Amino acid sequence: MNAQSSYIEANKKRMLNELLELLRIPSVSADPKYKNEVKRTAEWVATALTKVGVNYVEICPTEGHPIVYAEHITDPNAPTVLCYGHYDVQPPDPLELWESPPFEPVIKDEKIYARGAADDKGQFYMHIKAFEVMKNTTGIPCNIKFLIEGEEEVGSENLYRFVKNNAQKLKADIVLISDTHIIANDIPSIEYGLRGLSYMEVEVTGPNRDLHSGLFGGAVDNPINVLCTMIASLKDENNRITIPGFYDKVVDLSDEERAFINQAPFNHQEYCKALGIADTNGEKGYTVLEQTSIRPTLDVNGIWGGYTGEGAKTVLPSKAYAKISMRLVPNQDPDEISQLFEKHFISIAPKTVKVKVSYHHGGYPAVTPIDSVGFQAASKAMENTFGKKPIPTRGGGSIPIVALFERELGIKSVLMGFGLESDAIHSPNEHYGVFNYFKGIETIPLFHQYFADLSKDR
Ligand code: BES
Ligand code: MN
Ligand code: MN
Repeated sequence: MNAQSSYIEANKKRMLNELLELLRIPSVSADPKYKNEVKRTAEWVATALTKVGVNYVEICPTEGHPIVYAEHITDPNAPTVLCYGHYDVQPPDPLELWESPPFEPVIKDEKIYARGAADDKGQFYMHIKAFEVMKNTTGIPCNIKFLIEGEEEVGSENLYRFVKNNAQKLKADIVLISDTHIIANDIPSIEYGLRGLSYMEVEVTGPNRDLHSGLFGGAVDNPINVLCTMIASLKDENNRITIPGFYDKVVDLSDEERAFINQAPFNHQEYCKALGIADTNGEKGYTVLEQTSIRPTLDVNGIWGGYTGEGAKTVLPSKAYAKISMRLVPNQDPDEISQLFEKHFISIAPKTVKVKVSYHHGGYPAVTPIDSVGFQAASKAMENTFGKKPIPTRGGGSIPIVALFERELGIKSVLMGFGLESDAIHSPNEHYGVFNYFKGIETIPLFHQYFADLSKDR
C-alpha cells in the first residue's frame, strides 16, 4: 500500500465523521429561514480548510449567501487547479418520504443518507480531505485554489458577480469539479457536458375571485383547466417543443458524435425498472442517452391552484400557477429562450384569462474538452484507482458557473464526479456511497499529480 492509501485507511473513521458533521447543518439556500444555517456552513467549511493546512482562507460575503475562497500557492510557476463546489443543498421536501431525517445523517448498507450527501457536500468535501492526504504524505504538487459557494442550487447569481470581479484572484489553469456522476462503481466515467437552464413561473388569472363551481361552472373559464391546456400544447406528438424559434440555435451533432455518445453502456429495460415506469417517452428520433444530454427539454416542476386540502371543496378558482423549466443545449441562450417562452405563452392564452410570466434563474450550457491535459489527468487518475479507463459521457444536469468560468476567465473545467444516478439527489433519501466518498479522496491527489506532470510536458 502506498503512503496515501495508508493515510486514508488510518484516518477513515474521522474523515467519515467529519462529513456527517457537515451534513448536520441544514444549508438550504432557497429558503430564507435557513439563512443563518447557510452562514454557519460557510464558517464550518472555512474552518475545515484552515485545519488541513490551506495557507489562505476567507469567507466572502455577498448579497446572498457567502462564498468560501481559499488558496495554497506552492510555487508561482507551477500550474494552478481551481476546485469548485457548493455547500448549499436543495430543500428536503417532501419530508414525510424520508426514512430518516434529512439533516440527521445515518450510514446504512455502506451509504450515507442525508440531504446534500452526494450533492454536493460529500463530493466537495473529498477535495478538502484529498488536500489533507497530500499535505500529510507526498506533498502538494501544484497550486490549489478552492471556491465553495452557497447558491448553486438557486442559480449562482452572486457567484457570477464574484467571478467577474475577481478574475485575477481566480486565475487558474483548470477548474476541477466533483458534482456529477459516474455510470456505476465498476464503470467509471467523466461527464464532458452540462445542459443550460431557463426557469419560468406562470400565473393564469380567470375571474376576479374564487367562484362556486355549481353556480358558475360551465360558463366561466377555469384557469386551472386553461393552464393545463396551454401546458399540454407546449409539446407536439413527437415530443418536440412547440415554442417558435426554440430549436433555431440548437447544434445538431454529427453522426460520429452521436455514435460516440451512444457507446456508453445503457440498458433500457433496467433503466425503466429502476424508475418503476413501463416505458420512456422522449423526443422522437433520439435515444434516451441523447434525450437526457444533447437535446433540450421542457418540464413542469410544480403546478398549483384551487383547493388542495383534505376532502373536497367545490370551487372554480380565480388563479392557477406553474413552475416550468427548460434544459438547454449548445448554443441556446437562457435569456433568449425565456423571452421566446414568455412571448409564446402569452400568445396562446385565450382571452378569458390573463397571464403573467416571470423568470427565476438560468444558466448557460457547457461542453468541456476531452483532449485537454485536465481531462487526461482525470482519466489517468480514475484509471489508476478504478482499474479501468473512464468513459466520457455527455451529462444532462446543470452547473451554471461552468460556462461563466470559460467565458469570463477563459478556464475550462473537468467534471470528475463520483456520484451515482441512483443517489437520489434532490429527492427524498438522498445518499452517497462510502465507497464513492473514499474513491474520490483517493483519486483527487492523483489528479493533481498527473496534472502537474502532464502540464510540464506541454
Ligand atoms: N450537481 C447538480 C447538477 C448535476 C448533477 C449535473 C448530476 C450532472 C449530474 C447541481 O447541484 C444541480 O442540481 N444543478 C441544478 C441547476 C440549478 C440552476 C438549480 C440543476 O441541474 O437542476
Ligand atoms: Mn450539485
Ligand atoms: Mn443540485
